[in-house]
Amino acid sequence: MYKEVITKDGSLTLKNEKYNECYHSSEGAIKESLYKHIYPAFEVAKKNNYFGGEIKILDICYGLGYNTLLSILNKPKNIKLKIFSPEIDKNLVKSLKNFQYPKEFNKIRHIIESISKNFFYKDENIEVDIYIGNAREYIKNLKNVDIIYQDAFSPKVNKELWTIEYFSDLKKILNKKGVITTYSVATPIRCTLYKLGFKLYTHPYENIRKGTIASLDSLNFPKVNFEEKLKRVGCKVLKD
Ligand SMILES: C[S@@+](CC[C@H](N)C(=O)[O-])C[C@H]1O[C@@H](n2cnc3c(N)ncnc32)[C@H](O)[C@@H]1O
Repeated sequence: MYKEVITKDGSLTLKNEKYNECYHSSEGAIKESLYKHIYPAFEVAKKNNYFGGEIKILDICYGLGYNTLLSILNKPKNIKLKIFSPEIDKNLVKSLKNFQYPKEFNKIRHIIESISKNFFYKDENIEVDIYIGNAREYIKNLKNVDIIYQDAFSPKVNKELWTIEYFSDLKKILNKKGVITTYSVATPIRCTLYKLGFKLYTHPYENIRKGTIASLDSLNFPKVNFEEKLKRVGCKVLKD
């Protein structure tokens, strides 16, 4: 069901044969996670004084755990992280104790093993809660989230995590100064976020394809000039 794929930065990902998609872009599992999600999201956190010292992250979805684990490895000093992550594939999470992570993950081996065994990890600065089940149900029980990594498979094969109803639920639980990061640059997805009142940005880094950064707040990232495009192509969104 899973095939190993080495990405261009040397980090390993998998291809899921049911979805017929890889868990990460061929540009690099580490690179995608850092540049499209963690670096921009942590910039927003910094601008907001790290949300009072504890950042609440919703990682949609856990997959191989790169976004969660690299958030932990890049955690600013003296800041606490609370990470919530749904994942429908229980056997995948259980198998991750044997996954060949990049060597920089060795120092959090104890966290990887705890998550894989108990779907949970906690110490004085870090808490990770994995929910085995459908993300659509899970998100309804959260509140005051500061960062959302929107990292489902593509809308073509994982539609339930890209519809306007889903993003509307995300908006309800996102802190007003919070941020959503995603690799997607697709017009229907940007249009959905725009319709829901989000301002749209891209990351400023040159060494990787763009993604989308969405916030209800104004951010210091390059803006996506979306209105012009909407006039030309209209605004179609995915619905449940
Ligand atoms: C692209 S992968 C996530 C990659 C992950 N963020 C990482 O860094 O390794 C998408 C994940 O979403 C999970 N998934 C898909 N639909 C879901 C749903 N409705 N609820 C929970 N998990 C879901 C899949 O099983 C898969 O592991």
